[in-house]
Amino acid sequence: MKGPSTSNPEPRLTEDLEAMKTLGERSGWEPEAGPLKGVVLAYGCFVGDRLVGCAALQVLDGHYYLEYVAVDSAMRNRGLGASLVAKIEEEARARGLTELWAKARLPGFYEKLGFRVHSGDAHGPKSVGDCKACPQYHSTCYPAIVMKPL
Ligand SMILES: CC(C)(COP(=O)(O)OP(=O)(O)OC[C@H]1O[C@@H](n2cnc3c(N)ncnc32)[C@H](O)[C@@H]1OP(=O)(O)O)[C@@H](O)C(=O)NCCC(=O)NCCS
Repeated sequence: MKGPSTSNPEPRLTEDLEAMKTLGERSGWEPEAGPLKGVVLAYGCFVGDRLVGCAALQVLDGHYYLEYVAVDSAMRNRGLGASLVAKIEEEARARGLTELWAKARLPGFYEKLGFRVHSGDAHGPKSVGDCKACPQYHSTCYPAIVMKPL
């Protein structure tokens, strides 16, 4: 059951990519070597100083993506993820983008937010084909390329 949205922390810009990486890997992202890649800007939700949710606008090879989305397991299902994605959409629109793309671990979450699953398995440098050797593939991760017209 969702808690009252009035008690949700508002997303704000953050530069703490280390905290995002820690939250994301604790939330199930496939660990990646080194710092998060291509982050143009990121939003976080905080309880006190503690990061409990994050999302980023990423640029890779000239393609923009929604990336690095995670919400602390104790804070899920109360709208934080949706509010963070909405901030990235605003930022993408402000940059003149007309589409927002992502490689989703959980396409159902993005579909709730107005994204559609793309028929192809690749977009720019991102490909679902790369995922098939991953131990998370179709166990905790159901990757798909998704897109939302802005
Ligand atoms: C996916 C994740 C970010 C969702 O965060 P959240 O704060 O719980 O999401 P919200 O409460 O804003 O949910 C928004 C909508 O998506 C739905 N939703 C949430 N998680 C979902 C999931 N795993 N599958 C399908 N729909 C989901 C919610 O029910 C809600 O829909 P509604 O408005 O119709 O009720 C969070 O579960 C998470 O961090 N997961 C692990 C990390 C991860 O896999 N990140 C990449 C996501 S592709």
